[in-house]
Amino acid sequence: MITVEEYLEATGRALAGMAGIVGGLGDELANTRPPVQGASSPYALLTHCLGVVEYWAGGLVAGRAVERDRDAEFTSSGPVAPLLERVAQARERLAADARGADFAGPLQGPPNAAFLGPAGVATQGAALLHVYEELAQHHGQMEILRDLLRPQRPVDTDRLRSGTGVKWGSLAPDTLGAWVADMDLGIAPAIRHALLDSVDREDFGYPHWPGGDPVPAAFEAWMARRHGWTPSGGHTRVFTDVLQILQVVVEHATRPGDGVAIHVPAYPPFLASIARAGRRIVPLREDGLGLDDGVRLMVLVNPQNPTGRVFRREELEGLLELAERHDLTVLADEIHADLVYAPHRHLPFASLGEGAARRTVTTTSATKAFNLAGLRCAVAHVGPPALRAALDAMPLDFFGTPSTLGHLATAAAWRTGDAWLAGLQRTLAANRDTVAQWAAGLPIEHRRPEGTYLAWLGGVPGPRPAERLERTARVRLSEGAEFSAGTDVDTDAYVRLNFATSPAVLAEILERLTPAIAG
Ligand SMILES: Cc1ncc(COP(=O)(O)O)c(C=O)c1O
Repeated sequence: MITVEEYLEATGRALAGMAGIVGGLGDELANTRPPVQGASSPYALLTHCLGVVEYWAGGLVAGRAVERDRDAEFTSSGPVAPLLERVAQARERLAADARGADFAGPLQGPPNAAFLGPAGVATQGAALLHVYEELAQHHGQMEILRDLLRPQRPVDTDRLRSGTGVKWGSLAPDTLGAWVADMDLGIAPAIRHALLDSVDREDFGYPHWPGGDPVPAAFEAWMARRHGWTPSGGHTRVFTDVLQILQVVVEHATRPGDGVAIHVPAYPPFLASIARAGRRIVPLREDGLGLDDGVRLMVLVNPQNPTGRVFRREELEGLLELAERHDLTVLADEIHADLVYAPHRHLPFASLGEGAARRTVTTTSATKAFNLAGLRCAVAHVGPPALRAALDAMPLDFFGTPSTLGHLATAAAWRTGDAWLAGLQRTLAANRDTVAQWAAGLPIEHRRPEGTYLAWLGGVPGPRPAERLERTARVRLSEGAEFSAGTDVDTDAYVRLNFATSPAVLAEILERLTPAIAG
């Protein structure tokens, strides 16, 4: 038997949960019906729950006179704020009614058969049980309904600042974050549910994957479905992140002093990692020339960070020819592949042919397109047989392994993320246009990215323009100079802007930047 207080805790949790969902949806979405014939809006469902509470607890348990129009509950609509006040009042009345109830005592009136009460409800305890069951069921329904109506979470910068993410957590309170490549746009409902399900099962022992690790299988299916390339079975290894994979490939495919060819500007941790390993950074030129015999590895980031370039087939074929001429291993970092804007298309480097596949390590993760960087999970499809053998010969624990949650989230993203990703791409495409229009009105250089949610802006007065803009405009961008560190390429007058946020936050970011850049 539960106590009255436990009963109130359970019913209160369901009511507060529904109020939170309806409040979070706001007036418009809370009054929207999901695209399922005859389904109710969140506003109507919550109104129905208030009717249930008042009729079963207030009327049949406490004996108040209750007028109820059950049909009207399901078609009701209105502003959210007064509804939430009614929820607060209902919780107080339910507390008083339940505390005053005689659980074994008779109902204070006959239940209305039209209200679908459980047959044979005769005691006050049974009536209260009915209230609990209705609320718990509708709370579950409401969670699903929220995801149907609003797959993308609205951006709440206060929530982001108080969290564990570096993008907002590391900023001064008056500064907006548009730097590191994380999005402000939440995660796909399917991923949230995979994570919540694992938490609910309290299932955090050492991992065991009956039927095999779900990540390589999900990766293979996703690449085939989305990008037209069928990875070879058994070639995919799971790591914690792409930077680790770069390090592992540099270690195995090159020796100290060897050259690593890469397009510059480049993702700064790659440049730092290559330099730290004692290898030479050799910037890849447009014409493909300039490679010396000491170059052993080509790092091809496609779509490119920070420029947002998506390489065309001819360009990739040219790079393959270069790799063949110099007998290079290719590390194809395709982490931004799912963030390509039509009419551009991502072409996996390994899909160019058998020869390409045999010299290519394709690396990616769900962390960019699905916003999961903190979960630490990435894959490498290792084409070169010698490299595969070398990795297999390493002690199993040498690399560490990503967590169960990282595995589950990544597999959920690649198995079921399509619809959410489509919505995300619409948001990002609109933001990309906003940035392009804004940049066109300023004395800076900008080309709309073909992929990624990153805008590379040139001709920004410096020195260290990002540092200056953080001071003067209170917006943190990424410093261009860092994307060419250790090379003779000059990107000092560049900044990188991350536009993966809501249109409203983006508008504020651009508004703050305008006078600081124009002036
Ligand atoms: C091109 C590129 N590669 C790799 C990474 C980092 O991936 P990870 O966090 O898996 O090391 C990023 C992050 O922004 C990136 O833009």
